[in-house]
Amino acid sequence: MLNPIAADTYKTDDAYLMGTYTPQPIYFSKGKGCWLTSDDGIDYLDAISGIAVTNLGHTHAAINAALVEQTNKLWHVSNTVHIQEQQLLGEKLCHLANMDNAFFCNSGAEANETALKLARLHGHKKGIKNPLVIVMSGAFHGRTLAMLSATDSPNARHGFGPLVEGFLELPFNDMNALDNLGENKKDIVAVLIEPIQGESGVRIASPEYLNKLSTMCSDNDWLLMLDEIQSGIGRTGSWFSYQNFNLKPDIITLAKALGNGFPIGACLASGKAASLFTPGSHGSTFTGINYER
Ligand SMILES: Cc1ncc(COP(=O)(O)O)c(C=O)c1O
Repeated sequence: MLNPIAADTYKTDDAYLMGTYTPQPIYFSKGKGCWLTSDDGIDYLDAISGIAVTNLGHTHAAINAALVEQTNKLWHVSNTVHIQEQQLLGEKLCHLANMDNAFFCNSGAEANETALKLARLHGHKKGIKNPLVIVMSGAFHGRTLAMLSATDSPNARHGFGPLVEGFLELPFNDMNALDNLGENKKDIVAVLIEPIQGESGVRIASPEYLNKLSTMCSDNDWLLMLDEIQSGIGRTGSWFSYQNFNLKPDIITLAKALGNGFPIGACLASGKAASLFTPGSHGSTFTGINYER
């Protein structure tokens, strides 16, 4: 039964939560900027930022005001109508990232799933029956089954087989491996890479490696798909980490700090990748596509 005590003083344990985490014995009750306060009054510097999420900190007055304004105006509509705010956000992100259009979703894994679907459409359009996407050792792309299959983590995958096919894992930052793709090369349609790997430690791809990948993508008509879910939204001194390199991606995926804690993801596309979806080919309750684009 629900306890009638006010939410900020009510404590239970994790008995009713699926046991997927082993949390620290701390409850946070307040946050301001980059500081958190636990319910026993201790202040903590929020160096984890909700796992690369709260780039703008906690309880910023402007963000609070924007949320309150919207909740007083209108809640959810649906993807059967135009959504002005979504159009504005799409335009803003496309200008910042030099991309053509956006598909919004709820999480990073979903943004990457969207990218994967675009890669497969791109491949099928070229007559490739079993399209392959290059992924990297040490990569983390999310926990849906397809993204788990693109992620190099035996622990995260354990017990969830069979995995989704269609990925070719190469050693991160290894130029030689790119020269030795062999028979696989004819089926490759895209590369999915974090320019800066997050979950396997801060591992930065070398500019030479990214340039070579980018050249191979244009020479072979593969999509260059950058997972900027952890590295994007101002975490490297530019809006997106790829802007520190000389790259022109076909697809960028975003989430985490995009919403500062509000669950939102986005897949941005440019050029040929931006016209692969057609009405009805992809969607979800909260995605709100503008079907006329
Ligand atoms: C690089 C990268 N891609 C994808 C994801 C998955 O994002 P989400 O947890 O929002 O599904 C993460 C999450 O840590 C990530 O770091």
